[in-house]
Amino acid sequence: MLSDVQVRRFHGDGYVLVPALFDSEETELLRQAARSDPAIAGHACERDDGEGGKSRITLWNDAGDDLFSMFSRCERVTGAMEQLLGGEVYHYHSKMMQKEPFQGGAWVWHQDYGYWYSNGCLFPYMASCFIAVDPCTRENGCLQVLKGSHHMGRVEHVRVAGQVGAEPERVAEAQKLLEQVYVEMQPGDALFFHCNLLHRSDQNQSPNPRWSLICCYNAARNNPYKESGHPRYRPLHKVPDTAIKEAGLRFLAAGQFMR
Ligand code: SIN
Ligand code: MN
Repeated sequence: MLSDVQVRRFHGDGYVLVPALFDSEETELLRQAARSDPAIAGHACERDDGEGGKSRITLWNDAGDDLFSMFSRCERVTGAMEQLLGGEVYHYHSKMMQKEPFQGGAWVWHQDYGYWYSNGCLFPYMASCFIAVDPCTRENGCLQVLKGSHHMGRVEHVRVAGQVGAEPERVAEAQKLLEQVYVEMQPGDALFFHCNLLHRSDQNQSPNPRWSLICCYNAARNNPYKESGHPRYRPLHKVPDTAIKEAGLRFLAAGQFMR
């Protein structure tokens, strides 16, 4: 449950950072599972960032019974999302961003709704929860945001440096007016951000990995009018927060830790 101040901050700034949303035990389970679950490594795709770096992402639409899904289904995240989006939400997708030491790719300025708009979502009633798996610092390419940029509405997206990003001329003008924030985070911190918030990140030129789990949601009342690579409305089966540790113990018992 977010406080009124946190909800107001999300609406005013386009994001709210919640320190230690997950405790050290939950975070360590997440980190170990992320690094060792063959489903993460096995389904990863690599994308060139157009600047010599590579971004590795594992993305899934379905929230199941695995440990990662307990994060995306737990009350702490889904309850907050309902507060922020003003009603019932469903799981749109989740992704494990794997920014590896010395090669993790950059992301150009974009809004997530820059892409999701094309998936038949009429309203920007969508948001993400970025959960730090590793420390996210300026050195390893933490997320950067333009504070308040969600008030601009959706910006046109075009090809930028081999990626699809927000129209550079408009971003440059917005940068003159809005504060650019480097969102440094500790493992277990969570950043809730609006789908029209402009964000980017630098390459990871450091010796430290920068992995994060990003869980994305759409409002139930914003059911896409057409099929796309992400799901239309279907009920999200929430779980109590305690389900994270329970799933973690199941994961440990299955002996899936390989590195
Ligand atoms: C990043 O992990 O730096 C980018 C994440 C995103 O664009 O959602
Ligand atoms: Mn994004």
